[in-house]
Amino acid sequence: MATALASLTSLPRVILAPDSTPIDSLTRLRAALGPACPSLYMKRDDLLSFGMGGNKVRKLQTVLAEAAFAGADTLITCGGLQSNHCRATAAAGAALGLRVVLVVNGVQQEHPTGNALLAELFGADVRYASSRAERASMMESVAEEERAASRRPCVIPLGASTPIGAAGFALGIQEVLVAGLRPDVIVHSTSSGGTQAGLIAGCALFGLKARIIGISADESSPALAAVVRDLVEGMAGRLGGSYAALGADRDIVVDDRFVGEGYGIPTESSREALMMVARHEGIVLDPVYTAKAMAGLIERIRRDSFSAGETILFWHTGGQVALFA
Ligand SMILES: Cc1ncc(COP(=O)(O)O)c(C=O)c1O
Repeated sequence: MATALASLTSLPRVILAPDSTPIDSLTRLRAALGPACPSLYMKRDDLLSFGMGGNKVRKLQTVLAEAAFAGADTLITCGGLQSNHCRATAAAGAALGLRVVLVVNGVQQEHPTGNALLAELFGADVRYASSRAERASMMESVAEEERAASRRPCVIPLGASTPIGAAGFALGIQEVLVAGLRPDVIVHSTSSGGTQAGLIAGCALFGLKARIIGISADESSPALAAVVRDLVEGMAGRLGGSYAALGADRDIVVDDRFVGEGYGIPTESSREALMMVARHEGIVLDPVYTAKAMAGLIERIRRDSFSAGETILFWHTGGQVALFA
């Protein structure tokens, strides 16, 4: 385990956002949720100081170090039209002087908004796929095209959710410990699995016994839990630890009850969560990921699924640009 931890802390990173993100105490939200509400904190990765922030910045820092080592001059990745990951990759390409090609499923907007507007502003070359399923093969054809033009492309999978990307996220746990917080529970939004895999492995390696609860933005619980487990196992392979040392032997909790009618479609509880956090804390969640995750946390608090002495950390993974899409 010591070796895996040493491998994690010495992983090469391209530093996009050099500072730790703040941890806010949510005292007014806690009061609004009643006397049985445990201590509530929020890790503000929405404030990561690069490219409008969000969880992708942490993952890209390690993924891009690997791409640089491989000599890549072009980054290719994919997502939805309003993808936070595509926007963060476009920003990273701009900052590092790399060409970026984004394969997005959706129809080109006449007047781009939100993340699509920012991706254009960061100078990405955007290609449009007709479906989510088409994106992977389109990325491969773009990579072929780039190689034919004598460029050295690096294809970054959806959400930068690779074992190395997840390892980049795992380092965030160190920030929580340095800040002096030892939460009993961490609640966050999960979709491509890298954030959750990183949190699980980070807790296991840094010795934090927190329960990690991922609230799904789209996928079913069993499918996403399997993805997260594979990623943690992949991290064990890359960092040199056993599966158990990285937490892959633990129950992986993915709650898919807050997806509603589907990805990006608000629900009554996500609207309430967005509003409650805004009106009690002056903090903005995003409608696609973090509002649904907060809805999951609020529901658990209301049905007393935590004990009053516990400390809960909600990991804000960013994404507010979607409010302006
Ligand atoms: C704002 C935001 N929160 C949470 C997630 C989920 O993270 P992950 O894809 O690592 O599971 C994403 C991306 O999918 C995101 O953009």
